[in-house]
Amino acid sequence: MNLLKNISMLYRVPAEGGHDEVDAIADAVVAWEGDTIRFAGPAAELPSEFSDAEPFDAGGRCVVPGLIDCHTHLCFGGWRGDEFAARLEGASYQDIQAAGGGINSTVNATRAASKDELTGKAGAALADMARLGVTTVEAKSGYGLNRDDEIKQLEVYRALDAVQPLDIVPTFLGAHLVPAEYRDRRDEYLALLCQDIIPEVAERKLARFCDVFIEDNAFTLDEGRRILETAKAHGLGLKIHADQLSAGGGAGLAAELGAVSAEHLEYATDRDIAAMASAGTVAVSLPIASLYLREPFLPARTWIAAGARVAVATDFNPGSAPSYHLHMAMTLAAVHQRMSPSEVLRGVTSHAARAIGLQHSHGSLQPGYRADLAIIDAPDINHWLYHFRPNACRATLKDGNWVAGEFSPPG
Ligand code: NIG
Ligand code: FE
Repeated sequence: MNLLKNISMLYRVPAEGGHDEVDAIADAVVAWEGDTIRFAGPAAELPSEFSDAEPFDAGGRCVVPGLIDCHTHLCFGGWRGDEFAARLEGASYQDIQAAGGGINSTVNATRAASKDELTGKAGAALADMARLGVTTVEAKSGYGLNRDDEIKQLEVYRALDAVQPLDIVPTFLGAHLVPAEYRDRRDEYLALLCQDIIPEVAERKLARFCDVFIEDNAFTLDEGRRILETAKAHGLGLKIHADQLSAGGGAGLAAELGAVSAEHLEYATDRDIAAMASAGTVAVSLPIASLYLREPFLPARTWIAAGARVAVATDFNPGSAPSYHLHMAMTLAAVHQRMSPSEVLRGVTSHAARAIGLQHSHGSLQPGYRADLAIIDAPDINHWLYHFRPNACRATLKDGNWVAGEFSPPG
């Protein structure tokens, strides 16, 4: 049994409840046994059975559930700093992609990279994320765009899940783009996805979700429907990159098909916002992508007023969001999406857990939940989001083990 004491403010963040309900408790403690929370609440109410637990001192800091980055493209070859510079000179993201760059260029680099190279690179990012207090990461394929290289990415995730402490939730994004060699035979690529790759991915349990990029130059609404219905029939959960650069109807399709989440959504229509809210589909906002592409930020007040749950994630990828700094996404969500610090915290914990189907085990500090938490060097979350700095996280607990920061073993 273990006990974290001297917590100035504990945020329990229940899975249910209002958008800004974070259930903050002053002078708190957290007790866990193995990988499971046993008690999280006021120090004065700690049951006596925990009194001889091994103690750790939070130093009067605040404690939040382990952060969940519920949307990343973690595994990729190469980088695209040249395109970043070209965009600063005025080139658009879509122009670069139409000219064979963008996602295509990362596909070439990812196909050329070995599984070991990709594992090393993604693993280094995960170690940094752990230091930021992140304990669960959704990770997409989508830079292979053929059978072998899509599966290679998903196998990298499977390998990483086994050798490092963070939970990896893999998503198949073979429908990220039609690869160049299929440009004039889209139907054949769709057939490859629906008849070969999706069935194999599902059969081998290489992914929990299937995602589609619905956008001009990517996949149409009808193509997206066909791919996602196939994925659903094979038992995969559904996600959509929807309405990122134009209003394409992806948010409405996500609601219609019962997707667990839809992402980006900057251009979603009021009708589709209402549809997602009533379907319970989580709206995953990706403010780092809006920042880098100079696109509008998600109008979170509109979504929250409509009754939708808004999560916040990094979208870490080499094009639109080349950073896995979830704290930066959080501060951007507060400032540009006009979310309160409490709403933002829910966005990276309980709502993020729901966006990957884990709201009953992850994202909250309650008995029975995973012993995943972060000690944040701030008196409260207002101060944390306001005083952005390299890393306010002092220690990260994952499945009951200290995996980064103060109490973790050296080395
Ligand atoms: O989420 N929108 C599509 N996919 C990624 C970007 C991928 C890339 O540029 O490599 C995104 O923004
Ligand atoms: Fe993305």
